[in-house]
Amino acid sequence: MVSQSVYPPAPLDPTALAQSLRPFGESRMLPRAAYVDPAVFAWEQQNMLGGGWMCVGRSGQVASPGDMRAEAAGAGSVLLTRAEDGALHAFANSCRHRGHELLPCGASTQQNVIICPYHSWTYGLNGGLRAAAGFKNRPGFVAGEWGLVELPVTEWHGLIFVDGSGTAAPLADSLGALEDIVAPYEMERLVVAGQHDYDAAANWKILTENYHECYHCPMIHPELCKVSPPRSGVNYSAPGTWVGGWMDLRDGMATMSLDGASHGVPLRKLDGKGLRTVIYVNIFPNLLVSLHPDYVMVHRLVPQAADRTQIECTWWFAPEAVERPGFDPGYATEFWDITNRQDWQACESVQRGLGSPHAVPGPLSAEEDAVYQFVTMVARGYQGERVWNTGIAAPVS
Ligand code: FES
Ligand SMILES: [Fe+2]
Repeated sequence: MVSQSVYPPAPLDPTALAQSLRPFGESRMLPRAAYVDPAVFAWEQQNMLGGGWMCVGRSGQVASPGDMRAEAAGAGSVLLTRAEDGALHAFANSCRHRGHELLPCGASTQQNVIICPYHSWTYGLNGGLRAAAGFKNRPGFVAGEWGLVELPVTEWHGLIFVDGSGTAAPLADSLGALEDIVAPYEMERLVVAGQHDYDAAANWKILTENYHECYHCPMIHPELCKVSPPRSGVNYSAPGTWVGGWMDLRDGMATMSLDGASHGVPLRKLDGKGLRTVIYVNIFPNLLVSLHPDYVMVHRLVPQAADRTQIECTWWFAPEAVERPGFDPGYATEFWDITNRQDWQACESVQRGLGSPHAVPGPLSAEEDAVYQFVTMVARGYQGERVWNTGIAAPVS
């Protein structure tokens, strides 16, 4: 992929970024300012988070005509609607009159029109202005010019993505080989049966970097190490806007749960390998998708500030599991709630540690090759190039 300049460069020291982009084994972590400086965060909201494809929720949240929901996207929020013809729309969540939010961020409703709560301007589900009190016969007022600002939106395996730039290439172009990895899990047919919301006092990249390595697992995750060997598996090395890898389940362990037992149903299209592994994937910028033999866990990160991130964690199961009498998703949610909290605690400590003006970017171990892929992808974006993971030539051993 030839690099192209798509952003203005981030307010970061180019020499420090060059260190992050050195070959694996010689590189350094991102400059400290990338994790603590509000100016860098503001740049990210504008360019990396709100300036391209970003996950804003699930298809099931706006499943039927008339469903609508507002979600954070970069510096602002978007209004998602499902129109009468089944088409999904995304609009800037800002009334064309004087800018009132059409729906509070995080709220859902079901109506056949969008009514602004301030002065009741009314829009169709496709964004067209239907009524504006007092404007009907006003000379020069053309209702057709005052529809909501529409943004590109796409659905991918039950997830909704919005392109805040309005100009990004199709999402599928940047996911490449990930499609074949994710497809057998049939996420679009799974049912969300568990959700936990967290608020972590840590930068979104610290949370993502933590997700990409199990070098820390022997120290902080005794429960995880019981069911999955922390040094097992391999990271993928494929181009795109994603980073990921897989890990084994220990013999006798059916899934990630406190005792390794599953109380669900294996996902029907998985082969022998899918039933013995867990795949961990980060879709840039804000999605962590963990594919288990019998469920999928999705972390959607909603960055709030340089040092604060909201995390929506959902657990998706096969409908035939959820429909079983007495089905309890707790075997998965309890295991991961324990593990999530261990992770957030470590990440919050990293954030505090990086708060020291004496903190200096450190080197990466051989087990942190996926962190390297993520860091280099982000560093390219900071330089003003397209965010793109070029993979890794050969991990050092
Ligand atoms: S701001 Fe929406 S109707 Fe006035
Ligand atoms: Fe962890």
